[in-house]
Amino acid sequence: MKVLGLLKVTAAAATLGIVPLAHVANAAESQKERIGIIGSGHVGSALAGVWARAGNEVMLSSRHLDKDKELTAAIGPNAQAGTPQQAAAFGRVLVLAVPYSAFPGLIKSLGDSFKGKVVINASNPFPQRDGAIAAQAREQGAGLFDAQLLPGARVVRAFNAVGAARMASAHEDPGKIGMPIAGDDKAALEIASKLIREIGYEPVLVGGQDKGKYLMPGTPLSGEHSPDEIRKIAATLT
Ligand SMILES: NC(=O)c1ccc[n+]([C@@H]2O[C@H](COP(=O)([O-])OP(=O)(O)OC[C@H]3O[C@@H](n4cnc5c(N)ncnc54)[C@H](OP(=O)(O)O)[C@@H]3O)[C@@H](O)[C@H]2O)c1
Repeated sequence: MKVLGLLKVTAAAATLGIVPLAHVANAAESQKERIGIIGSGHVGSALAGVWARAGNEVMLSSRHLDKDKELTAAIGPNAQAGTPQQAAAFGRVLVLAVPYSAFPGLIKSLGDSFKGKVVINASNPFPQRDGAIAAQAREQGAGLFDAQLLPGARVVRAFNAVGAARMASAHEDPGKIGMPIAGDDKAALEIASKLIREIGYEPVLVGGQDKGKYLMPGTPLSGEHSPDEIRKIAATLT
């Protein structure tokens, strides 16, 4: 009866737009996560919005705190703004959504904050935009490069090659769109997968960090695919 009651309340809230409908089925068993997001542009702000509305505690950050305060005020009570240092300390899970050119300075300024944390890297290396570091990341393969860039972090590549606007709306059609992910840490992949499911995507593990090179625009995995399509494409990748 208690679960039925909770589901009724949650369904009513969903009807009012207070929580996304996709969460009605799993509201009873979902657990809140603390997510620190670095980069509050298209990707960071879209993910902050859907994860906060799914009941997680989110801290959004960039180099412009006032702008991030406005963004989080619009998202609602589960979202707050902070500096990248505060977001890195706040999150059990960290999300990186910045240009690769930001990484050297950012990582230096964050010191050991990444160590032991699940780090979802949505960022992509574009040499024309980001310069030499992006060329190096592509040469080495983005996943392996990420692991070297963030020693001690439990890196998962995800959200790299779907449009940011879709990240905010995938929950309207839950489970239909696959989200390719790559990483070596099993527990980190599980935590990332739970968060990915919460906002409507079905995570599909395509391999370890060595497969992270396929998680960026311009590869066969980029764009929107069903989970089955992603599995078929992933099986062809070396
Ligand atoms: N747009 C998409 O559809 C999409 C989809 C998948 C993946 N991606 C990738 O995700 C990353 C973010 O893309 P985006 O479209 O969200 O970019 P964006 O709109 O330009 O946002 C980038 C964010 O990074 C912040 N930033 C830049 N340098 C920083 C630093 N040193 N420290 C802290 N924050 C910093 C910027 O804020 P301040 O300049 O105010 O600090 C801004 O909030 C990129 O690598 C992109 O390739 C984009």
